[in-house]
Amino acid sequence: LAKKRVVSGVQPTGSIHLGNYLGAIKSWVALQDLYETLFLVVDLHAITMPHDVEQLTKSTRTSAALYIACGIDPTKASIFVQSHVPAHAELTWLLSCVTPISWLNKMIQFKEKARKSGEDVGTGLLTYPLLMASDILLYQSDLVPVGEDQRQHLELTRDVADRVNHLYGGRKWKKLGGRGGKIFKVPEALVPETCARVMSLTDGTAKMSKSAPSDLSRINLLDTPDQIANKVKRCKTDSALGMEFGNEERPECNNLLSIYQQVTGKTQQEVIAECGEMSWGQFKPVLTDALIAHLQPIQKTYDEVSADVGYLDSILADGAAKANLLADTTLQNVYSAMGF
Ligand code: ADP
Ligand code: NA
Repeated sequence: LAKKRVVSGVQPTGSIHLGNYLGAIKSWVALQDLYETLFLVVDLHAITMPHDVEQLTKSTRTSAALYIACGIDPTKASIFVQSHVPAHAELTWLLSCVTPISWLNKMIQFKEKARKSGEDVGTGLLTYPLLMASDILLYQSDLVPVGEDQRQHLELTRDVADRVNHLYGGRKWKKLGGRGGKIFKVPEALVPETCARVMSLTDGTAKMSKSAPSDLSRINLLDTPDQIANKVKRCKTDSALGMEFGNEERPECNNLLSIYQQVTGKTQQEVIAECGEMSWGQFKPVLTDALIAHLQPIQKTYDEVSADVGYLDSILADGAAKANLLADTTLQNVYSAMGF
């Protein structure tokens, strides 16, 4: 029986942070044993906002090396860079011509980002959900790991897949040799067990994000021990006594305890037994030490992987070769179904 296929990726917009790690990459590690997995660095997504050219080149490689450092095993999973597979850009065009603009206009992330950036946002900010749909549909993915923030995007992908199957996957498609009238597999969401949503260190009601202006708001996977200590020291606190989970009036407290729980692998009960009576002043160094201890082996492997340029290049070349093969099959089917 063929394993189900799972596809996921992170943008190389800036540094990969604890939110990307606990909300996505860490859960990929378990998936690679259960499924056929493809993990891409979605560099084409990184230019929907104005970007730094040299930074993009650098952080694309950094991201790929971090996937490996976080435990993605290139002998089990395919790791590749999105722009090394031209089919992503090509399919996006085809999808953009079959997707009503109203479907894109109602995407929450677009509305939020466009509101922040004013009128002159790039067209790509509107259409990038179709690039994401291409990332998924090109590989006939069965399952897509989704955080809360990506749910609407997966729904759009499913709707677009249905629409293409409906419009072009009929009798004509069968005549062309298509199987079961389906051009695209309609993917399902794979909701991670511990649905980690990591919040900003400076505002417990906003998610930790690469795009937040202040670097103090996030822990990056490559932060030094001093940087981590400084960020935890300066994070937002409150005046209540003790540490607790789930108090809506104390989002920062809940967030930091959750982070502590995740990086130590302890249960909530264990964390409460240990830290419930602590003051912020007592808890912060405990959290700092746990973060440093958790990130140290990742950083060590990262240093090794990035020092060996040939190794990383060969992983990415292998990954791209496999991805191109799969993606081209789908793309050619779409082209012929649409009459090309
Ligand atoms: P960012 O928002 O930092 O630009 P991406 O959009 O590249 O991150 O998201 C990549 C992956 O990381 C997605 O699966 C997303 O759900 C996850 N992710 C991003 N930020 C967080 C967060 N703060 N908490 C949990 N998961 C997150
Ligand atoms: Na994002």
